[in-house]
Amino acid sequence: MLKVSYRPLLDGDGDTVVYFVRERAKQAPICPDQAVADYLEKARKLGDFRGQAGKNLIYYRESPKVGKAPERVIVIGLGKDKPSTELFREAGGLAVSAALATKARTLKVALPDPFGGLSRVELARALAEGLVLGSYRFDKYRKDFEPEEKDDSLKGIVIHAAEDRAIDEAVRQGLVLGLAVNSARDMANEPGNHWTPAHFVKAGRDLAGKYALTCKVFDKTAMKKMGMGGIVGVGQGSVQPPALVILEYRGGTTKSPTLLLVGKGLTFDSGGVSLKPGAGMQDMKFDMCGGAAVLAAMQAVAQLKPAGINVIGLVPAAENMGGSAALKPGDIISQFNGKNVEVVNTDAEGRLILADALAYGVKHYQPTAVIDIATLTGAVIIALGHHRTGLLSNDHALAEKLLAIGERCGEPLWRLPMGKEYRKQLKSEVADLKNVGSDRAAGTITAACFLEEFVDKTPWAHLDIAGTAWDFTKKSYVPKGPSGVGVRTLVELVLGWK
Ligand code: BES
Ligand code: ZN
Ligand code: ZN
Repeated sequence: MLKVSYRPLLDGDGDTVVYFVRERAKQAPICPDQAVADYLEKARKLGDFRGQAGKNLIYYRESPKVGKAPERVIVIGLGKDKPSTELFREAGGLAVSAALATKARTLKVALPDPFGGLSRVELARALAEGLVLGSYRFDKYRKDFEPEEKDDSLKGIVIHAAEDRAIDEAVRQGLVLGLAVNSARDMANEPGNHWTPAHFVKAGRDLAGKYALTCKVFDKTAMKKMGMGGIVGVGQGSVQPPALVILEYRGGTTKSPTLLLVGKGLTFDSGGVSLKPGAGMQDMKFDMCGGAAVLAAMQAVAQLKPAGINVIGLVPAAENMGGSAALKPGDIISQFNGKNVEVVNTDAEGRLILADALAYGVKHYQPTAVIDIATLTGAVIIALGHHRTGLLSNDHALAEKLLAIGERCGEPLWRLPMGKEYRKQLKSEVADLKNVGSDRAAGTITAACFLEEFVDKTPWAHLDIAGTAWDFTKKSYVPKGPSGVGVRTLVELVLGWK
């Protein structure tokens, strides 16, 4: 288990020290350690390293006669451009990957001085996030690893800076956020046979056991009684019963704003009777990334304890399978708010389970705003690729807030339009609406139009993470596999809510 802590001075144990240095015109980067600075001057003269962003240098020095400065020194370049928090997240990710390529186990990270308008607090938090996020690995099922290799992970990271309570808090926040994202990645990495709706139930209950959160669970029988035809219908083809997991965080009174977070927890999406093609189907074990993001965000919220706000997390969880008990094309189901839906395609199942959760959440909690997050449509990958999450909303202010947060935290979004011309594509001859558009045109938008039918007039935003939940833009702090996208955006929204 990786431990990250904060220390005021560059002291204590550690086998490796990490410095971050800026590139300067025709001069070596400045480094507080004179021996390292001399070495950097040599490297610059030889043309090997100037402190460029994305570059690093490893230096082995003699152990000192007095004190215990580590012999292994990793220097990470910051470049010469105006910095953003993303630069420091990337730098943190680079530092741990450089360290992981060596036998380094315990890093002493020297917090660099702020520059270019970034505050020391912003810098410390982003760096801590990057270090924790970049250190993530998932090798639980890789028995083929040599024992020595298996142990090649970082054991500890200590961030050193001058004594300052604000820095202490910033590092703690970065750590909480990073670990929450890593726990979302852990859930997502579990394959369908090891992560079923029952695992979402257990994860929710475990969080409630550990933090000041209340967990409620509706099982299949309860959901049937309540008229949640979407969650029950999607789950009926599987031996794994569906569930609705609810976590409540009460940081305020009944008069305080309440945010509702809803995440798609499809633990495996075969497409059901409208079976998906075989190639790449294994990736549909990741169809629960929205649900994982919501649980992880609740974990971070419970740890950071924001005051004056209530946050409710809902995870509708089901496995979408075919078979004699499964939902069929043409079936008509009744959702929690009474709307009848013609299921034209059983592979458009995410919206069916979200619809019940949204309608229930909006009715029961009367939230100030609701945000859902889901690997909802392949179409969003066609529209935005793997670089931006699709954002669709019925509320301009909420959309603007999310766009700004996404930009700041390295989880960029792009808003797509909605409107009645798109909504029309969902008209059904036999029910209130059908679950897919008449053709494939604007698939991400029609999916959002479907969801909008279940939020009444509540300010609502939908994050379609089908393109970003895995195969996300290459970044040093996002290892291959599930990215944990959305967790930080959701938590930032909660922390900054006014
Ligand atoms: N889980 C998929 C969407 C998806 C596709 C996520 C690729 C990540 C990568 C969703 O349930 C689905 O199958 N959507 C269909 C909708 C269609 C039937 C209208 C799709 O996108 O093809
Ligand atoms: Zn599907
Ligand atoms: Zn799906």
